[in-house]
Order: sequence, then C-alpha cells, then structure tokens
Amino acid sequence: MNILLLGSGGREHALAWKMAASPLTDKLYSAPGNAGIAREADCVALDLADHAAVIAFCRGNSVDFVVVGPEAPLCAGIVDDLEAAGIKTFGPTRAAARLEGSKGFTKDLCRANGIPTAAYERFRSPAPAKAYIRSRGAPIVVKADGLAAGKGVVVAQDVAEAEAAIDTMFSGELGEAGIEVVVEEFLDGEEASFFALCDGDTALPLATAQDHKRAYDGDKGPNTGGMGAYSPAPNIDAGMSLRVMNEIIAPTMQAMKAMGAPYKGVLYAGLMITREGPKLIEYNARFGDPETQVLMLRLMSDLVPALVASRDGMLKSFDLRWYPGSALTVVMAAKGYPGPYVRGTVIGGLDEAGAVEGVEIFHAGTKAENGKILANGGRVLNVSAIGNTVGQAQQRAYEAISRIRWPEGFYRRDIGWRAVEREKQDRLR
Ligand code: AMP
Ligand code: GLY
Repeated sequence: MNILLLGSGGREHALAWKMAASPLTDKLYSAPGNAGIAREADCVALDLADHAAVIAFCRGNSVDFVVVGPEAPLCAGIVDDLEAAGIKTFGPTRAAARLEGSKGFTKDLCRANGIPTAAYERFRSPAPAKAYIRSRGAPIVVKADGLAAGKGVVVAQDVAEAEAAIDTMFSGELGEAGIEVVVEEFLDGEEASFFALCDGDTALPLATAQDHKRAYDGDKGPNTGGMGAYSPAPNIDAGMSLRVMNEIIAPTMQAMKAMGAPYKGVLYAGLMITREGPKLIEYNARFGDPETQVLMLRLMSDLVPALVASRDGMLKSFDLRWYPGSALTVVMAAKGYPGPYVRGTVIGGLDEAGAVEGVEIFHAGTKAENGKILANGGRVLNVSAIGNTVGQAQQRAYEAISRIRWPEGFYRRDIGWRAVEREKQDRLR
C-alpha cells in the first residue's frame, strides 16, 4: 500500500515511524514532513490547504491511503474532498470534526445526551457573558468557540480576569474562532488524555496518556501545545476506562451517527477526573501531540490495519496489543516558546542521544541543511523513551537530553513527576 501522511510535527514523526515499520506499507510519503520524518518517508512540499493539489499528488503517485495528522485540514474538510475523489482517507469528515472545531457544538451535544461535562452557556456578545460570569463567580473558564491554536482558553481565577478574557475574545484578535464564546464551570481534579479509534459505529480505546501543558517546571507558566507526556496515565485504571467509554465516548458516537455525521478517526477526549467521576473538558478530532509519541512507542500491533479498519468501518472485531511497560517523552522547545522564538539554530549530539537504551527521538520542528539539523519551530524535538516504569523511561529520556547540544533550546526537567511520585509511594507500601 502507498500511504501519504499529512502533517509536520512530532506526532506525525511518531506515526511515520510506526507506519514505516508495517509490512503493509510499500511507499510512505509525508507532506510537508520534517527532517526526522524524512528518515521514514519521502517528504513532499504540498500546501495542505490546497486540497486539489493533495488529490493531484495522490493520483500521480498511486497513493492508496491518506492519514491526516493535524486538525486544521480536518476542519477544512480534506477528508470529504479526498474521499469524494475516490481516495481512502483516515480521519473524520468536516461535519464530524466539529467535535473539535466548535466547543459550543460539543457542549450542546453533551447536554442533549447526558454526557458529563462542565456546566456552561454560549454567548455571541460581551454583556450577557459578563453577567453570567458575575452570577457564577470565579474560578471560571472562558473559551473561544473555534480553533485558536491553544490560545482560546482562559482559566480565570477571579471575575475581573474572566471579564477581561471576554473582551479579548470578542475583540476580533482570534478571528472567526472568537465570534462565539463558551463560559463554563471550573472543574477540579486531575487531567488525562483518552484516545479511542472510531469507525462510525465502534470505538476501540487506545492506551492512556497524560501530558504537561504548562511551559515550565512545576506545571507553571503559560499553556502550550504540550511539553511532555507519558503513558499509561496512572489515574485511568480499567474501571475508569470503562466509565469513560460508557459515559462519554459511546454516547458521543451514537449522537454523531444519529445526526448523520458518524465519527471516524481518532477521538481524543481531554478529561478531568473529578470526585464525581470523569468529565469531558474538550474533544480533539485527531491524535494528541506529544501523547502520540508515547502511544506509538507502546503499541505492539501494526498501526496500518487499525487505521484502515477505522476508515472501512471494520473495527468491531479488532484488537490492539500494547507493551506492558511505560513510555515518556520530553519536548525540547526553542527558547521563548510559546511566545516569539528564533529559527535556524544548530542542534548537535542527536546520534549520541539516540544511542541511549530505549530512546527514540522524534522531530517536531526541524529541517536539514548542509548535513546539519536546524531548529524550525517552537516545539522542536521529542526525546522519548520506553522503560519498565515511568521512572526508568524518565531517566533514559533525560540521559539522552544531556547528550544533545542545543544552547538555544529549553525543556522541562520534571516530566512525569506525578507518575514517578506514585511509583515511589507504591514501592513504600
Ligand atoms: P482546552 O484547550 O479546552 O484543552 O483547555 C486547555 C486547558 O485549560 C486544559 O487542558 C485544562 O488544563 C484547562 N481547562 C479547560 N477547561 C477547564 C475547566 N472547565 N476546568 C478546569 N480547567 C479547564
Ligand atoms: N497535547 C495536547 C494536544 O494535542 O492538543
């Protein structure tokens, strides 16, 4: 099978690494890809917003199957357009991707189907939103309805901060994403990322993961796309997983099917595990980044037939096997991220780092030039490792990082701290 993978991040490098290892893969292409993906696939310079160009490439290169990584092309309907052109594609249609593309849509779907989530209201102008905020008090959460590349959520500690967030969101700064705003209850608990592979009818849970969204140690600083992750998530045991499937994922699948937009692809539920049980914070219509990097390290089964089964509606009798150990990834980012940062700095020591036992280095934002690897994004490398425990995976990942020479980069030194703490306590028991 000839496969085209769309995207250029660490998530796509991990997917490319896993798909390249499949005996079903004849030729793997990636658009646009990066310097790490280029080791697994032929990278082609395609503009993902130009669906006709992607279709033409598939036709010209006998591509049998397309895998879409990021949310923007999904929400722009690339799956609809490729499928209409007769090209099999993994991922949700534009209508199904509204689960990520519109927070208001997802909140209404939860309300109509009794899916546990934070209490909320939707607003199209500032005054009623502020009145609602004052009536509810703080802490309270303000969210832009649409895709805002991680900038659309403010967890406000007091009413003034929440009102200021309302003004920012309606200011036009976020473009279309800010036309509507959701204000919702603050949920107290521990977060986890839950992934299910879906085929329109059936949902198959994947391994669990936790990510670290804040930029700095101690889970402090601004929100980012994710500074590190590990799997499994210690707060999702088999019982909790069953509850998430029954209370959140299954009713969502049924509701999407009933409205004529059956959900295919990966459904990524951002959860808060509260005292009352799991609650949905948000859905993403794609694999998580950097969670996918740890999931792919733990996946024993071939990924390609699973993605094809999701597209073909054949997941019912499907099973995936996972290595029982742990995996952890540390993101190395350009100094300044998630704010402004410079590109083009030279990264050394990658081969020495990759030689550490159990370590795999996925590239997130890199390019190769004159035999050198250069930083080419905010999140640049995902230094990942497997281990018998999260602690061992953590130790290996940081050993690898100590061999990387990149003075213009930074990383968190405490990825996995909650899980490592738990492992220590379990040993003392
Ligand atoms: P989101 O982009 O919706 O995932 O939100 C980004 C982050 O904001 C989440 O990962 C949470 O840490 C936090 N967050 C979002 N909604 C809530 C909520 N209702 N209660 C508490 N924290 C939240
Ligand atoms: N790791 C968070 C995300 O993929 O959105």
